[in-house]
Amino acid sequence: MAHSHEVVEKNVGLLAVLVAIVISFGGLVEIVPLFFMAEINEPAPGVTPYSALELEGRDIFIREGCYGCHSQMIRPFRSETERYGHYSLAGESVYDHPFQFGSKRTGPDLARVGGRYSDEWHRIHLMNPRDVVPESNMPRYSWLAEATINSKKTPDKMRAMQTLGVPYSDEEIAAAAGLVDGKTEMQALIAYLQGLGTAIRGAR
Ligand code: HEC
Repeated sequence: MAHSHEVVEKNVGLLAVLVAIVISFGGLVEIVPLFFMAEINEPAPGVTPYSALELEGRDIFIREGCYGCHSQMIRPFRSETERYGHYSLAGESVYDHPFQFGSKRTGPDLARVGGRYSDEWHRIHLMNPRDVVPESNMPRYSWLAEATINSKKTPDKMRAMQTLGVPYSDEEIAAAAGLVDGKTEMQALIAYLQGLGTAIRGAR
């Protein structure tokens, strides 16, 4: 036995191959079960697909790069849950394609910002953050109040989500354009923000 171990120790190539095998096995043991765990693949109780307006708002969030300064991932540490609320559950982002976990927090995490402020607060904040938070260095997004959503594209976006497994019904898709027609990008973005993390509120 001592001898065979010496062979491994003296042969870098063999050592590298064996290390790779051990690490891949360890990785598979951790990763493969995740594909079969309902808790991770299925929506958490109360989580529903985004409404047509929220879905449009989410696109604005992505287009404007809000994720560059805001994460949407509350980690299970006391310092985070005291500030933001219940830590994020995998089952809360099953309808997020692509997910908006982010990794940079120039501003606060937004995973549970829904319902924390009024719609009017968000409007003023997006028009000029300094009007409500004087020390804020968040940019203003005032043009969103003038731009209207292109409702012709909404059904296509929902159909794209359908192919990714989001259970929109054909009736919902048919009604979508009517629901977002004439809405501003700001209204859509606020609708999206107000829904964030609200499904499992109180689950502490
Ligand atoms: C350059 C970084 C930056 C960008 C980009 C940015 N923000 Fe912020 N955001 C901040 C900072 C800093 C704060 C904290 C101060 C404040 O409330 O304005 C903040 C606060 C917020 C808050 C209040 C959160 C809370 O819990 O108090 C919301 C909501 C928000 N941002 C939404 C957005 C949205 C939506 C976008 C994209 C349209 C965006 N932010 C883009 C930096 C940014």
